[in-house]
Amino acid sequence: MKVKKAVIPAAGYGTRMLPITKAQPKEMVPVVHKPVIQYVVEEAYHSGIKDILIITGKGKRAIEDHFDRSDVPKPNHYVSELDRILEEVDIFFVRQKEQKGLGDAVRYAESFVDDEPFALLLGDTITFPPCTRELIQIYSRYKTSIVAVEEVPIEKVSLYGVVACKELEDSVYLIEDLVEKPSVDEAPSNLAILGRYILTPEIFECIKETKPGKGGEIQLTDAMRILNTRERMYAYLFKGRRYDIGNKVDWLKANIELAVEDEEVGGEIREFIRSME
Ligand code: UTP
Repeated sequence: MKVKKAVIPAAGYGTRMLPITKAQPKEMVPVVHKPVIQYVVEEAYHSGIKDILIITGKGKRAIEDHFDRSDVPKPNHYVSELDRILEEVDIFFVRQKEQKGLGDAVRYAESFVDDEPFALLLGDTITFPPCTRELIQIYSRYKTSIVAVEEVPIEKVSLYGVVACKELEDSVYLIEDLVEKPSVDEAPSNLAILGRYILTPEIFECIKETKPGKGGEIQLTDAMRILNTRERMYAYLFKGRRYDIGNKVDWLKANIELAVEDEEVGGEIREFIRSME
């Protein structure tokens, strides 16, 4: 079965980005020309997906408004490009009733997903080149759940879900176990889950069986741990760039790196940075 649907959770509090996120969703925080979630929707589109479900919640209405067709009198080319994509995709919304964790948020996608494999893209994470496109290629060969991972410094493992795994071929690993936010001593590797997944619909049963974990939240990693006892799961080592816009340092780095490379503003920004040295 092909991957034709994408789910984007975007209902979290965004406490690490306060006060920026006091009255606006963290998924609407700008990175150079566009809000974060627009990069995520574009990634799904450029990975061949036309049906997209965004999971929103309290205080997230701006996300829905952003994906309306624009009615500005003089749209610039960023707006026109988004309008063109919006002609081709269908975006659906569902509201998470309580912010009980990422696993709980994914649960709301069950009737949208039905019996198909789906791509899951965290709404606060950007990847270049589109990680989802690479995951879909791997899925077409392995036909089971695949989790994108990246190498992180060992002292940072406690910020992530981490996998224990065995390499099968270049960049593809068989998952043996998954641990949410382990201490350095508990961490089975330094391969951290980065926020892009292909999951089979069996995940929904596993979420229902998942008890609150780290931070009292229903953790997706814990649900995937159950899934891993029922079907083979793979990890894919993504070698591109990934920014977690949910923390301020990564958000600022994303703005600097992407602004420096940008066609429109890059020249002036590079000059400005040189003038600061
Ligand atoms: P985070 O783990 O960054 O959590 O969510 P958070 O609550 O948004 O942020 P902090 O920790 O308070 O700063 C990763 C992704 O999962 C979504 C978020 O919107 C984000 O895109 N999420 C998280 C939900 O949709 N619902 C939740 O209950 C938690």
